[in-house]
Amino acid sequence: CGIVGYIGHRKAYPIILEGLKRLEYRGYDSAGIALFDGKNLKISKTKGKVADLQKKLEAEITTTGNLGIGHTRWATHGIPNDVNSHPHCSNSGDLVIIHNGIIENYAALKKELTKRGYTFKSDTDTEVLINLIEDIKLKENIKLGKAVQIALNQVVGAYAIAVFDRNKPDEIVIARLGSPLAIGVGEDEFFIASDASPFIEYTKNAIYLEDEEMAIVRIKKGVKIRKIKDDTVVAPYVQELQMNLEQIEKGGYEHFMLKEIHEQPDAIRDTYRGRLLAKEGIIKMSGIDDNIEKFTNADKITIVACGTSWHAGLVAEYIFEDLARIPVEVEYASEFRYRNPVITNKDVVIAISQSGETADTLAAIKLAKQNGAFVFGVCNVVGSSIARETHAGAYTHAGPEIGVASTKAFTTQITVLTLIALKLAKVKGKISNSNYHYHLQELELIPEKVQKALQSDQHIQNVAKTYKDAKNCLYLGRGYNFPVALEGALKLKEISYIHAEGYPAAEMKHGPIALIDEQMPVFVIATNKGHYEKVVSNIEEIKSRAGKIIGIVTEGDANVKNLADHIIEVPETLESLTPLLTTIPLQLLSYHIAVMLNKNVDQPRNLAKSVTVE
Ligand code: G6P
Repeated sequence: CGIVGYIGHRKAYPIILEGLKRLEYRGYDSAGIALFDGKNLKISKTKGKVADLQKKLEAEITTTGNLGIGHTRWATHGIPNDVNSHPHCSNSGDLVIIHNGIIENYAALKKELTKRGYTFKSDTDTEVLINLIEDIKLKENIKLGKAVQIALNQVVGAYAIAVFDRNKPDEIVIARLGSPLAIGVGEDEFFIASDASPFIEYTKNAIYLEDEEMAIVRIKKGVKIRKIKDDTVVAPYVQELQMNLEQIEKGGYEHFMLKEIHEQPDAIRDTYRGRLLAKEGIIKMSGIDDNIEKFTNADKITIVACGTSWHAGLVAEYIFEDLARIPVEVEYASEFRYRNPVITNKDVVIAISQSGETADTLAAIKLAKQNGAFVFGVCNVVGSSIARETHAGAYTHAGPEIGVASTKAFTTQITVLTLIALKLAKVKGKISNSNYHYHLQELELIPEKVQKALQSDQHIQNVAKTYKDAKNCLYLGRGYNFPVALEGALKLKEISYIHAEGYPAAEMKHGPIALIDEQMPVFVIATNKGHYEKVVSNIEEIKSRAGKIIGIVTEGDANVKNLADHIIEVPETLESLTPLLTTIPLQLLSYHIAVMLNKNVDQPRNLAKSVTVE
């Protein structure tokens, strides 16, 4: 979910509304807003998108008030409907809250409050929390901040909250545990948001709350931060933001996803800028350089991640093992955290996360640290929770990724991991000098090759047109391109809702082959390196069952061309770098199919970009 708030001298409504639009990537099942002008409180909420909320608001209310909070929801407790949307009020109607996260013990608290006469309109855990705060405040006759603190000490779960009291129009109380919260500090005005994007045009000064901290934000008096548990006062640390408005706008593209697909040549260049010195044969990465022995002495590397980042981890497994000869395991963070993984102080754990906020990945990191491992983060969002929780790390520098389906984050993650693998291969003496230099030179050429792959866009649109009505699709690849097949299938199902599966090409005969008939499009990655002949044999097997074959091949390929119904070419490169190119047409394909099917590309149903609940 996304949270935004404002208190100051401006009208809160436009700031909250625009802020919610920027935070919609965090969830968009429903949206809501509370505006307060010192006398009148207006709450409006609706199932659906922020645009639906805007329509509703334009029809029904005066949007005055210098205090406002807003919320865009990704449902956890209670279906997405108007009643379950945030903000929620306490029984007296005085306290108003927005909440991101889960209160795990809400049922017990609700029972207790019900006994004390409280009633609930919604099914949400949030409404329980605000009444708990009210109950404590009234019972103990204390200020809002104190009541919030006592309540949060009774709560089990994760949260980012913003609360205000109708009797205190100059104050908002916020708190975080597990979900990010930033405060934008202006002149006699404050902004609150899940990330800084809602306020970058107003102020570049931001304070990021740490876990288990709360803040009382008051006009004229400023920001007071305390530890929720023991009430220690924390001095606010104001950072200067690097982000600018342009980066979070669409820049002429119809969708963020398309913009981000096309940004990949630059994004990859930004990722290796200053790190890859191909001519000198040097890879500079301070996070690795400073901890090189941790890596070279490691028994194994365990990669933890979720979703697309997990796919990048799988690509890394091939490259680390192939080039640096270090054993690698790749784990879903959600599984790792609840197993009893064999991790010791001789292990290195690499956590990959675009947002740096994924709850399961964060928990996996904490577990690995408890077991003594050295934990290295590969994140895109600077200053994110994962970036801060890890011992060291490398940013991907892809710039903000807004489209829910991850694209440039994936290719830049692979770029960072490739640099690390090459560096370790070199330090460990596992790669020949010539192969090392060859890799560096080729990596430097990847952005222009990605650019070239993007030029097949028109042809890919035609392919998309042919297969847009398929009900099922299969994606096959081997070796380095097996994870690309998984990622291709994920992209398609995420945004077009067509069922798709990725498989190692040779595993097809152990199951999926039963699905193949003349209706079934099979996307096969068959670049000329690695297991080319083997993949061609797999293509023959599909053909003899009348499946439709779309080959992702190296420029100039003739074999697959003869067998396939369509081919899409990518430039030639080293086998280990092919994922950076073969991914591109699969992203474009999913994009065009989703557009042709009239789906909401940037905000596919039920998904969220940043999943801060487990
Ligand atoms: C969500 C997003 C995916 C992303 C995954 C992991 O499911 O929709 O695109 O790959 O989370 O996110 P992270 O920020 O940790 O990479």
